[in-house]
Amino acid sequence: MKRLIDKLYETQSLDISEYRELISGRNDELSDYLFSLSREVREKYYGKSVYIRGLIEYTNYCKNDCYYCGIRRSNKNVSRYRLDKNDIMSCCKEGYELGFRTFVLQGGEDPYFTDERMCGIISDIKNNYPDCALTLSIGEKSRESYKAFFDAGADRYLLRHETADCVHYGKLHPQELSPENRKRCLYDLKEIGYQVGTGFMVGSPFQSAETLAKDMIFLKELQPSMVGIGPFISHKDTPFADKPSGTLELTLFMLGLIRLTLPYALIPSTTALGTIAPNGRELGLKAGANVIMPNLSPVEVRKKYMLYDNKICTGEESAQCIECLKNRVSSVGYEIVTARGDAANYIKNQR
Ligand code: 5AD
Ligand code: FES
Repeated sequence: MKRLIDKLYETQSLDISEYRELISGRNDELSDYLFSLSREVREKYYGKSVYIRGLIEYTNYCKNDCYYCGIRRSNKNVSRYRLDKNDIMSCCKEGYELGFRTFVLQGGEDPYFTDERMCGIISDIKNNYPDCALTLSIGEKSRESYKAFFDAGADRYLLRHETADCVHYGKLHPQELSPENRKRCLYDLKEIGYQVGTGFMVGSPFQSAETLAKDMIFLKELQPSMVGIGPFISHKDTPFADKPSGTLELTLFMLGLIRLTLPYALIPSTTALGTIAPNGRELGLKAGANVIMPNLSPVEVRKKYMLYDNKICTGEESAQCIECLKNRVSSVGYEIVTARGDAANYIKNQR
């Protein structure tokens, strides 16, 4: 098994059966070995720096009905909200003052935010903060819409593929969502020139070592700039309410594999990881993650953006959160930096 990790370290790739064997045969000793190498690779490309992204959850309306997600349209217990342009600009202002140089607009797939409205918001943010990167995380759209957002100034786009196995995809989503369209979106985004982020939940219902191995092969093929993973955490008002949540242990192991497979990737230590274990995000950093995405949404709406139960940081002011994070990050020997934080292999003149 160690042999496979060495091979991955040396060649940045394994075939599907090798990934599967590693994932299903993992143990504590192997994990420690993996993390020693994934940390080394992370520090080779990014030193001790941890990039921060200010997350603005601007709408919890969603037209989709993913079985795992707390803000799915069928959940009638959600109190729905939208931030308007002024609210969003205030979040950016507060974030900028706190040192953020990347803003992430994340929301459900909300038809109220037409392309025209989105482009207005995007160009306002970029005109006011030309030194900042703007990331969108607003779901599946047409190629034309993605192009319009890019031309308005958006730099990056996050769209998790959720699972690279078509049958598994069908067990997590209603029929109207297809794995083919999800992949079409990701390739369109890349071709248009976005820095693309994808990813998946660890421990989602019906997942196996085989589907996770397929996720690794898909990542290798897509070559995203960013990869976000976190444990699946059940939400009480969804069809998956009784499904067990993913584990810290497997999430960290997958994080280590991703770092060795895509050495340059920007990998967040996610809020979901911090939700299943009090020191989850610190352990994520020690397994190879190099990004943290604190919440910049107004405190009044934070509890309404509950993708899963018991989400952390929903009661804190942004400034408090950043102080807390500085301490957490330095406790494991890393350091928050306020640079834009493009991928280390990103070619500047592309944008
Ligand atoms: N547990 C963990 N992660 C979730 N997401 C959605 N619902 C859950 C859940 N119950 C993740 C999905 C989505 C991202 C925004 O949040 O992977 O892409
Ligand atoms: Fe948000 Fe600690 S990171 S309160």
